[in-house]
Amino acid sequence: MSAIPRLAGPPLLGLNARFLRDPLGLFLRAQREHGDLVELDLGVAGSVYAAFHPDGVRQVLMNGRRAHRQLLRQLLGKGLFTSPTGDDWTRRRRLLTPLFRAERLAAMTPLLLRPLDAAFDQRWHPGARVDLGAEMKRITVAMMVDATFGARDDVDRPAARAALSFLLGYVDHQLFAFPTIPRSWPTPANRRYRADIAALRAIIGTALVTLRRKPGTEPTFLDGLLAHQGDFTDHELVDEVLSIFIAGTETTGTALVWALHLLSEHPEHAEALRTEVAGALGGADPTGERLRGLTRPRAVVREALRLYPPAWALRRVVDEPLEIAGHEVPAGARLIVSSYATHRHPGVWERPLEFDPRRWLGGEGRHRFAYFPFGAGAHQCVGNTFAQLEGDLLLTRAAQRFRLDRPAAPTTGTKPAIALTPVPTPHPLLLPA
Ligand code: HEM
Repeated sequence: MSAIPRLAGPPLLGLNARFLRDPLGLFLRAQREHGDLVELDLGVAGSVYAAFHPDGVRQVLMNGRRAHRQLLRQLLGKGLFTSPTGDDWTRRRRLLTPLFRAERLAAMTPLLLRPLDAAFDQRWHPGARVDLGAEMKRITVAMMVDATFGARDDVDRPAARAALSFLLGYVDHQLFAFPTIPRSWPTPANRRYRADIAALRAIIGTALVTLRRKPGTEPTFLDGLLAHQGDFTDHELVDEVLSIFIAGTETTGTALVWALHLLSEHPEHAEALRTEVAGALGGADPTGERLRGLTRPRAVVREALRLYPPAWALRRVVDEPLEIAGHEVPAGARLIVSSYATHRHPGVWERPLEFDPRRWLGGEGRHRFAYFPFGAGAHQCVGNTFAQLEGDLLLTRAAQRFRLDRPAAPTTGTKPAIALTPVPTPHPLLLPA
């Protein structure tokens, strides 16, 4: 077998600085200039193999294992999202999977609609520009908190929302800012992290006790966890809630920023969506069943996730040699796949850079691993259907209430961190529907 193409950087440092500055540009260039498997030189930190073609993506995600995520575990505990592949992960995956069954999620729709309508009523006024980044964060945080606790007044939901909002920014900074200030230093951010994570743990722990005593009437994540608790301790359940909070809020929030932004830039697709919603629902509330009859909101979310996948790269380790793109990757290698790069692969997608939700309306004749915004294999996102439901709900309700005019300034770039954010954040003008 031939040698694996290698993209080298300066001695000792390798491509680390480039990787921190512009990982997406690095992936695209590596694929364009060197092909579907490239060894990226990380200097003293060794190297990582990047696979770009869907066949290679399949090999990596179906055969690789997820390594230990030390920093995330220190920050958030030992939930599913922070767990390496293995027995403990399997046990946690079995606990969480039933929470996301279709019939449970459909029944959660009224619960999710309330914070959405509240945000629209309070802050979305026709004639004003809306900060999509800030708004989608507030809305997805509120939806996540209500999905977890229900709309109960005996849980301090405002405190939970405030703590979660802060934690999302803090975790992002810890993982992606360089250099970071050590967490032991008594900076205002570090102190607030300790206070907020303790507050959030206390709120979740107390809610578990309250819910056991007085069950709610609506399906929520918390009552789903209690129903399948088995041998899990309350401390472990709290870890799982934190894991869902961090895995499922900013990812969905940024996906929806992109979806709305792309619609504001492509009025013809926004109009097609509005026409479908008006025809099927008129002004009626979107319910689980009504949303199932719509195709456009789902297609827009899928297409936004294709062009700007929040989880833009996934890492794996292989214990056995692996054949990828005609090369052998050695046992023990570290590998990376980038949904951002594969979703734009010119050999896989027609018109890869074009925003066209219609590509999702026909039959799906594409490679199973050409599109993986939610990952694939054992670790595939456990919350993907919940994310899609939030997206369907938001785009449908927004189409019933508003039109978005073009943004004030075009978005020029992307900031890859825990999710992939548009820079600067779009501020489209709101018009009445
Ligand atoms: C558009 C929104 C979302 C995107 C793009 C996304 C993406 C992903 C991806 C790519 C993975 C795989 C990670 C890996 O292979 O290492 C993942 C895992 C996970 N996601 Fe999501 N996610 C989204 C929303 C959600 C939501 C709403 C929840 C929960 C309510 C959630 C909870 C999780 C959890 C717990 C895992 C870990 C699964 C495991 O390792 O078995 N995600 N997500």
